[in-house]
Amino acid sequence: MATWILNALFASGTNDALETKHIKVVDGKIAELANGSASPDTAGCEIIDATGKLISLGFIDMHVHLREPGFEHKETIASGTRSAAKGGFTTIACMPNTRPVTDTPDTVKFILDKAETEGVVNVLPYAAITKNELGRELTDFAALKEAGAIGFTDDGVGVQNAQMMKDAMTLAKSLDMPVIAHCEDDSLVVGAAVTEGAFSRKHGLKGIPNESEAIHVGRDILLSEATGVHYHVCHVSTEQSIRLIKLGKSIGVNVTAEVCPHHLVLSDEDIPDSMDANWKMNPPLRTPRDVEACIKALEEGTIDIIVTDHAPHSAEEKAKGMERAPFGIVGFETAFPLLYTKFVKTGRWTLEFLLRRMTSDPARVFRLASGKLEPGAPADLVLLDLENEREVNPETFLTQGRNTPFAGWKLYGWPALTMVNGQVVWTEENGITQG
Ligand code: DOR
Ligand code: ZN
Ligand code: ZN
Repeated sequence: MATWILNALFASGTNDALETKHIKVVDGKIAELANGSASPDTAGCEIIDATGKLISLGFIDMHVHLREPGFEHKETIASGTRSAAKGGFTTIACMPNTRPVTDTPDTVKFILDKAETEGVVNVLPYAAITKNELGRELTDFAALKEAGAIGFTDDGVGVQNAQMMKDAMTLAKSLDMPVIAHCEDDSLVVGAAVTEGAFSRKHGLKGIPNESEAIHVGRDILLSEATGVHYHVCHVSTEQSIRLIKLGKSIGVNVTAEVCPHHLVLSDEDIPDSMDANWKMNPPLRTPRDVEACIKALEEGTIDIIVTDHAPHSAEEKAKGMERAPFGIVGFETAFPLLYTKFVKTGRWTLEFLLRRMTSDPARVFRLASGKLEPGAPADLVLLDLENEREVNPETFLTQGRNTPFAGWKLYGWPALTMVNGQVVWTEENGITQG
């Protein structure tokens, strides 16, 4: 069965000139891109009328928490992938801080099987660097790769021991696999919930210093230089980390980096005095100076990609308040509208730039088959409504999590339809249409 997506708007060049295109999808792949002036033969084909909507490759999110197995009260593979689809994401890479930790081939296979039977988008699992993410003993990298893991990370915690990280990188390099790191030196952060900055000072709270992130970034760039491994830095949030990544790149180290929407649009000065834990995540919201450094680093390519770090928690857990609640906010269903509204509508970024950092750049960094809007590529696509302003309402989220600081924000750029491997999985009109 073939499908024609007709009259879609297409951001073709760096000047954001919008062209009209018709796109034919056959057997889960993009088969043809026709100019808007053409009248394609649609006899016997399914038709999707995309008039007035922008078409893009589906977003790729290389850092998410799906919580299954073990924390199904926060999220499941079913609910998390539905939330991703609603946010326009077609491929997501899930972190191994599950219960059990994703540190055996069986758990990797469990996630892949569940994603196949219950998920609605492509799911790529990461496996842990160390058993149980305890930092003591490496996992079986070869067996985990064989089972389908796409990289190694202890996200949620930093690998504290430098020799352990070096051994991990040496082994990952021998298997041509990347090491992805949550950078946090535990000796510099004990029991703090927010960054060291205006908010922590005002409320007499202990702060998480910028160096706790940057010290690991610097260490790991040196270890990546020594081992040659592809080293990817998670959720960069500080000016100091950026300085080090820039230096690493300039001398040819195989280092890449990601940043989250919340670190681009919020600083610690935005946290309400009510100490609402929906503003608590790790790394924390940093100072306005760090925010501007992150934006610039993404613009100039020191930071390569945007990820959400979608981290759902239950309402009860988040109700414990700023100091006791777990770190993390949900991200799928607000990511594109936030960035489109804050950076593209304001004229700071082109649409093409934002889309690239959420689609082809993650595909390039992680060598994925998707990430190209051309014949032969997987038909992972999203239609976006750039015209209508809508308010963020957590009650309408498909994620089980309601933990967002963006409730009530008025945004543009809402997804209207998401297609994964040629199947429409979600539409604005009908919700989830698959699975
Ligand atoms: O905010 C965060 N949430 N940061 C992390 O590193 C872990 C994550 C989680 O698992 O909730
Ligand atoms: Zn992390
Ligand atoms: Zn994370």
